[in-house]
Amino acid sequence: MLTNFRSYESMSLETGANSVVLTGANGAGKTNLLEAISFLSPGRGLRRAKLSDVNKIGAEAPWAVSGRIFTPDGERQLGSGLLPRHALNSETSPDRRIGRLDGENLNSPAAFGDILQVAWLTPQMDRLFIDGVSGRRRFLDRLVAAYHPSHSREVGAYERVMRERSKLLSEGHADPQWVSSLESRMAEHGVAVAAARLDAIDKLSQAISESQSAFPSAVLSLGGDLEQGLLNRPALEVETEFCERLVSSRQQDARSGRTSIGPHKTDLLVRHKNKDMPAELCSTGEQKALLIGITLASARLSATQFGAPPILLLDEVAAHLDEKRRGFLFEELGDIGSQVWLTGTDKSLFELMANRARFFHFKDGKIEAE
Ligand SMILES: Nc1ncnc2c1ncn2[C@@H]1O[C@H](COP(=O)(O)OP(=O)(O)O)[C@@H](O)[C@H]1O
Ligand SMILES: [Mg+2]
Repeated sequence: MLTNFRSYESMSLETGANSVVLTGANGAGKTNLLEAISFLSPGRGLRRAKLSDVNKIGAEAPWAVSGRIFTPDGERQLGSGLLPRHALNSETSPDRRIGRLDGENLNSPAAFGDILQVAWLTPQMDRLFIDGVSGRRRFLDRLVAAYHPSHSREVGAYERVMRERSKLLSEGHADPQWVSSLESRMAEHGVAVAAARLDAIDKLSQAISESQSAFPSAVLSLGGDLEQGLLNRPALEVETEFCERLVSSRQQDARSGRTSIGPHKTDLLVRHKNKDMPAELCSTGEQKALLIGITLASARLSATQFGAPPILLLDEVAAHLDEKRRGFLFEELGDIGSQVWLTGTDKSLFELMANRARFFHFKDGKIEAE
């Protein structure tokens, strides 16, 4: 159920546990609906939009989304929405996204990750291997969080301490003892972040190699000092060394206003196994296929590790595949058992899903079940 969410003033949809196919012209509101579902997980949603931009233009009240979710532990009611800064009576605090779980207010949607996994592929992600490292790192951390529920909180904790250290350093005359204590906390959280990433990549690589998929296998590795260090040295040693390197980079970091080393710089390195080629050199279609392969393997893994397969939001994915590949995709999705939300302009793309999904068509701002 959506309220004042982008193009929707008010909208609700009953789907049951089936997968869902959404068709309609460009601008009909398909991606908006997927974005709403993505807010039933921690983080900034699949568009990474500014929270205030999500609000329906011209609407007074803040946006909200809620959903009834059927989990292995029973039915849960998840909700989220904008808490605008003016509602906090403080002009300095930013807009916030709050959560609601089974009727209780939560400070943040972080706990949603313990209940439900949501993963997505969007047309913007077609450039994931080509664009900057931050997009790949976010993609990585979302993968990790599917098998390490505390990962997002750990990343958040690391970044908060890092910002605090940067602020202190840039103000000058920082109390060295205080900076030291921040640095040891950074090292502690940083090593936890790196260790979870390594473990997840390990498991995911295994899932990829075990899976009989029509999509190409990816070889995954991590480009990051801490992750590399943890491959062959005890965590405590890596933590101590990271801490020492932070101490010696204080002057440089004070000048640049940034933190020059740490797991906030890590890259996810992807290679096309059969072609033995880095993903960024593969064709657009091959890159998409790699990304689908990783997403499917991750969904399979999260089904066993998390206890339930994720909800998958596949925006405009079908249109880029030939009929054979589309058939394989639908089949593999069926095996994983996820509820999948697929979008496309043309219903004929989804004929092979006819018996496995509910179809909805968007027209003139209305949604019609087919
Ligand atoms: N904050 C907003 N308020 C009102 N309308 C919006 C807002 N943000 C986006 N839209 C509208 O939503 C539509 C896009 O919907 P989208 O879900 O991306 O379409 P598609 O079906 O092609 O995926 C556009 O017409 C856009 O103008
Ligand atoms: Mg769209």
